[in-house]
Amino acid sequence: MTETSAAPWWQDAVIYQVYPRSFADADGDGMGDLRGVASRLGYLRGLGVDAVWLSPFYPSPQRDAGYDVSDYRGVDPLFGTLEDFDAMLAEAHRLGLRIIVDLVPNHTSDQHAWFREALAAAPGSPARARYIFREGRGAGGAEPPNNWLSLFGGPAWTRVTEQAGPDAGRPGQWYLHLFDTSQPDLDWSNPEVHAEMEDVLRFWLDRGVDGFRVDVAHGLVKAEGLPDWSAKVSMVSGTDAPLTAPLDTPEEAGAVGVAPDPAHVRTLEPDQELEHRLSPEDRPPYLDQDGVHRIYEEWHRVLAAYPGDRMMVAEAWVAPAERTFRYVRPGEMQQAFNFGFLLAGWDAARIAANVDETLQAAAAVGAPATWVLSNHDTVRHTSRFGLKDPTTFPKGIGAEDEQPDEQLGWARGRAAAMVMLGLPGSAYVYQGDELGLPEHTTLPHELRQDPSFFRTGGAERGRDGCRVPLPWVASAPGFGFGPYPGASGGDGGGAAGSVRPWLPQPAGFARYAADRQVGVPGSTYELYRDLLAIRGGHALGRGKLEWAAPHDPEAGILAFRNGPVLVVANMGADPVALPAGWRIAASSRDGAVADGALEPDACVWMLAE
Ligand code: NOJ
Repeated sequence: MTETSAAPWWQDAVIYQVYPRSFADADGDGMGDLRGVASRLGYLRGLGVDAVWLSPFYPSPQRDAGYDVSDYRGVDPLFGTLEDFDAMLAEAHRLGLRIIVDLVPNHTSDQHAWFREALAAAPGSPARARYIFREGRGAGGAEPPNNWLSLFGGPAWTRVTEQAGPDAGRPGQWYLHLFDTSQPDLDWSNPEVHAEMEDVLRFWLDRGVDGFRVDVAHGLVKAEGLPDWSAKVSMVSGTDAPLTAPLDTPEEAGAVGVAPDPAHVRTLEPDQELEHRLSPEDRPPYLDQDGVHRIYEEWHRVLAAYPGDRMMVAEAWVAPAERTFRYVRPGEMQQAFNFGFLLAGWDAARIAANVDETLQAAAAVGAPATWVLSNHDTVRHTSRFGLKDPTTFPKGIGAEDEQPDEQLGWARGRAAAMVMLGLPGSAYVYQGDELGLPEHTTLPHELRQDPSFFRTGGAERGRDGCRVPLPWVASAPGFGFGPYPGASGGDGGGAAGSVRPWLPQPAGFARYAADRQVGVPGSTYELYRDLLAIRGGHALGRGKLEWAAPHDPEAGILAFRNGPVLVVANMGADPVALPAGWRIAASSRDGAVADGALEPDACVWMLAE
């Protein structure tokens, strides 16, 4: 069987991202796991999502929270076993939920058998040819082969001590790592790498997964000759400087990395960072190279040989939208994340421009639009939208930085979700979005784990604040993230017993716990559930957007029709009169509408009376 004739499920799916480390901890060791995921699938079914994307659960030394894979065909004991995976998958399918797994093809862990072999082998050997090893420049090869910087900060090259050959025991070649030193980049000009990754795809397809989220999909191919390119592109696209002052003593906070010398680094603004991945004359020679598309054509053929509309979604931080949609041309992937939407912030004009650009580019290649507000790499939108400038995109928030207005961010976050879920196409919900969960913005630096914090000397606070374990039960230890017998109840600092969630939960998470929201009218969970029901009932994901009165983005008003639904969001400062002849089907908060006008920081879905 090849591709099915009915419209494939992924065209309008709402896909929920599970970050396994922080979703649910069944065995009580402080770390989420696959049995935890299985135990909460009913909650997701109840919410009304169509599919679940799982961030990596593979064997890994966890230097980058699992995006450093040492075995692509297994499950790390932290998360369970392959049998646990199969049982979770079967349960998901029984409930009618699809499962997408993460594929990390740009780099392996330095603990992967291939890299160990490469280190033990001599320069020029076939084992080295699976990675990007080069001689250094300068006297004795003591300088890196080029000036590339890691997306996590610091140089993108690490020198090895040779173990074999004439130089054994001496400093030798350098290997490329676009991310952490522990994440060596694979060499995609080597056919063996292609064969191996296709085999990995088949391994998971044979087990029954419905698709793959492809990590750093724009990074696999590097420009011929690895030419110099000096700007630093960040993992977390955003403002380079911390929001207020840099840390005085990053060492005291445990930040041991070295920030690149600013004199040698061109600093790019967030939008510019994306643009730099566009302009042919100044695109980084390691991102968005044309050759990546050949790989996705190969993978398309692999997936097409399986029944059931298997899919791939590209994680490619590229701009503008036409560039992103090159990844989803016929014969390539099925979806690409729309990071332009995520970067637009709480700003009607920026969102309207992104929506227009996205729908146009999507139509040009016949692929669905996608929408996303948050993920495990970005400050949660509920917190970003509570900053003085709600289009700011910080690389993490620390206690020293501007603190978001939590109530305002919560209100805007709910309204933004209403805009997103009213749009045609497919939407991604990051775990906790449905609870209105904020970022942990005061996480002590000594508890941080993200390599981007360490590799920038603390200048980037990093991504731990959006990865804090979910609160399930307000009064339970660790807020019910796992069973922590003997620990005292939801104390906010996490369980007080010997085992604690791997990152501490702030006390305020009690207010957002699932048990305070499921079945509670007006809660964020129930709002999402209502929206998903209306969206499904009217097939909004397959609908068509038309801007409609009172749409006026420059005045902060977004308004559009999709099928029978009129969505109106007020991102401006003044109330907006709502049109007559419509009744409110859903509203972002109590008091959103007063005297026939929509208050600021609110959104409504309306149906004709
Ligand atoms: C993108 C992932 O989302 C991020 O978490 C990871 O650190 C990098 N890719 C490297 O794999």
